[in-house]
Amino acid sequence: MKKQVLSCIQPTGEMHLGNYFGAVKNYVDLQSEYNCIYGIVDYHAMTMPYDAKKLRLNSWDLIISLMAVGVKAENLFIQSLIPEHTELGWIFSTVASYGEMTRMTQFKDKSQQVKEESKDAFISAGLFTYPVLQAADILIYKADYVPVGKDQTQHLELTRNIAQRFNSQFKTDYFVLPEILYTETPKIASTADPTRKMSKSAGEKHWIGVFADEKRMTKQIKSAVTDAGDMPFNQETGKREMSEGVANLLQILKACGKTKEHDDIVDLYNEGSLRYGDLKGIVAEAIVEMTAPFRERKAELSADKKAVKNQIKASSAEIRKTAQQTLREVKEITGLLNPKA
Ligand code: AMP
Ligand code: TRP
Repeated sequence: MKKQVLSCIQPTGEMHLGNYFGAVKNYVDLQSEYNCIYGIVDYHAMTMPYDAKKLRLNSWDLIISLMAVGVKAENLFIQSLIPEHTELGWIFSTVASYGEMTRMTQFKDKSQQVKEESKDAFISAGLFTYPVLQAADILIYKADYVPVGKDQTQHLELTRNIAQRFNSQFKTDYFVLPEILYTETPKIASTADPTRKMSKSAGEKHWIGVFADEKRMTKQIKSAVTDAGDMPFNQETGKREMSEGVANLLQILKACGKTKEHDDIVDLYNEGSLRYGDLKGIVAEAIVEMTAPFRERKAELSADKKAVKNQIKASSAEIRKTAQQTLREVKEITGLLNPKA
């Protein structure tokens, strides 16, 4: 039997290079080897201040973006078409402990962000319980592997704890404990401030859209923060130390598939003869080249949105069958009632 892979992504706007290299590239590659399911988690997107008019548009846009980079339609679902996720989420909220929930660092970061952005916005209880819903997203399909970026490590740990506690509380081995799959680039930094991760919440200059126009992408890379070219040699390794900004550009270059160019540039760097302007030019070119077919495919798919929507409604209905089966079994185990029993 093929192993089950599952991951989800929030419909909060355009896909950026951090999402792509940190998670989505893996979504595509894993499809040839595993049973894969990928969700657009719109219930999750409601936990931060959001615009109801935009939520549905964002969900469809993300579906088309994922299809454009190579995720198969039959592997995609939209969370609100599978309400069993929230039902299992409730059950898990009684299995997760309050104490462990208070240790979630993403909650601390995001609630801080809400406070900073607007004095009228409030921190929803949903933002606090969000990781429980995430555990339901994963465990409802008995996922073996979850491809995500580094920022999700703690949520995956919680998911494993919930699975384990459920199993021991109900004396069963029902839930599988999922494992994280990182890409080779689990953390892409902002090019404008390489000390922080690339992220939409940090502001416009801190993320580069996968479908942005070529000029904009190039401009953003050309203005990337590097260093003053005075990084010291490390006596022990015999190599020059590297700033976060330069290391980030190099990892992006490698992730674009330009391994040879990457290695050549590292040699130049160690010799002390690399010009950062040249590095930025090569990286910008690599990104534009890699994303050009994505942009084309997105335009094609966008021309027939109706067809895309029909495909995704059908795939969600198919994927829902597994979720419904899990819910029936969980209700049996926990003593809840099943409509047909
Ligand atoms: P989000 O847009 O925060 O819902 O993230 C979607 C996926 O992209 C998750 O698996 C994240 O771990 C991953 N991700 C987001 N930002 C980055 C980043 N800067 N570097 C690597 N992975 C990221
Ligand atoms: N919390 C994830 C993020 O912020 C999104 C997410 C929700 C997720 N449910 C999931 C990721 C299940 C993996 C598996 O990016």
